[in-house]
Amino acid sequence: RHLSYVLGIETSCDDTGLAIVDTDGRVHANVLESQQEFHTRYGGIIPPRAQDLHRARIESAYDRCLAEAQLQPDQLTAIAVTTRPGLPLSLLVGLRFARHLARRLKKPLLPVHHMEAHALQARMEQPATISFPFLCLLVSGGHCQLVMVRGPGRLSLLGQTLDDAPGEAFDKIARRLRLHVLPQYRLWNGGRAIEHAARLASQPLAYEFPLPLAQQRNCHFSFAGIKNNSFRAIRARERMEETPPDGVISNYGDFCAGLLRACSRHLMHRTQRALEYCLQPNVQLFGDAPPTLVVSGGVANNDAIYANMEHLAKQYNCRSFRPAKRYCSDNGVMIAWHGVEQLLQAGESCLRFDYDSIDVQ
Ligand code: KG4
Ligand code: ZN
Repeated sequence: RHLSYVLGIETSCDDTGLAIVDTDGRVHANVLESQQEFHTRYGGIIPPRAQDLHRARIESAYDRCLAEAQLQPDQLTAIAVTTRPGLPLSLLVGLRFARHLARRLKKPLLPVHHMEAHALQARMEQPATISFPFLCLLVSGGHCQLVMVRGPGRLSLLGQTLDDAPGEAFDKIARRLRLHVLPQYRLWNGGRAIEHAARLASQPLAYEFPLPLAQQRNCHFSFAGIKNNSFRAIRARERMEETPPDGVISNYGDFCAGLLRACSRHLMHRTQRALEYCLQPNVQLFGDAPPTLVVSGGVANNDAIYANMEHLAKQYNCRSFRPAKRYCSDNGVMIAWHGVEQLLQAGESCLRFDYDSIDVQ
């Protein structure tokens, strides 16, 4: 049987990810260069700095990718590259490199929507099990969406955040808490640090936050209220404890547990509404397919959040999945896999040689 190899290139934010995946979903190479270390020093991502780092690393990441896969460049079938959404300066590095390669190797390009790639990633390990359509909760640093996924390029939005994304809220709150001054969290993203700290709570019920959008009959999300309440609670505790300016409040574990519970409850409440809507007898968005919920994006790494989602899905006789943890956050594999999905669904008609008409955003 003929196998195709797709090279995936991801540079939408602060990770340089290149990977090679075949049409059976086997990963032949996965190179991921994080910029976390540089950006934590400045308290956030500075787009021109992120662009420089992508530029400095992409060429060698590509070389390592081919070496890892033990493939020659001409054995690649196509080059998939993230074109949107993301930081334009970062996206451009990946796209320009992809164009340059495609031209040199005379290979077709496959433009990839980053969020779609997150949504389809869970299928890489079990394409037969997770058939279309499925409901997907996309939770990352930039997004929070509930979408019905019918195939690559065929997603419909049921709800999205009205303000912050949950990962963004975790990152900002972790920064405000100064978790990064604790050596064990120095190189971790905010969400991961908060998840870990929450497990250390001695009084996990000490902090309570109101449920956002509790009365709204839709599937939207809002994390700004939880974020602002968090800033206020941290400030109050710092005053009480007289925490030094570079210190962390002593009960940060309790606080993180309350924060995580609040975000998790909100995500569940909105996803429950979406499930009820999809399953209504006169709507039946799943058609003949078994009702399926996929949780994806960086925040899907969170075991507490995912366990709650599994529990919710079960109540509706709905199956639940998430990608393997190493593929929940940004990486090149998901971009390559989206390329494979395009090939599987559309065949050769999706392959593009009009390199210059493919642009970012
Ligand atoms: O998907 P991703 O790698 O990049 C975007 O497309 O945004 O997601 C990154 C986000 C970060 O905001 C990070 O705080 C969050 O995912 N994240 C987590 C966990 N690991 C990463 N949030 C909660 N719990 C985690 N374990
Ligand atoms: Zn992402």
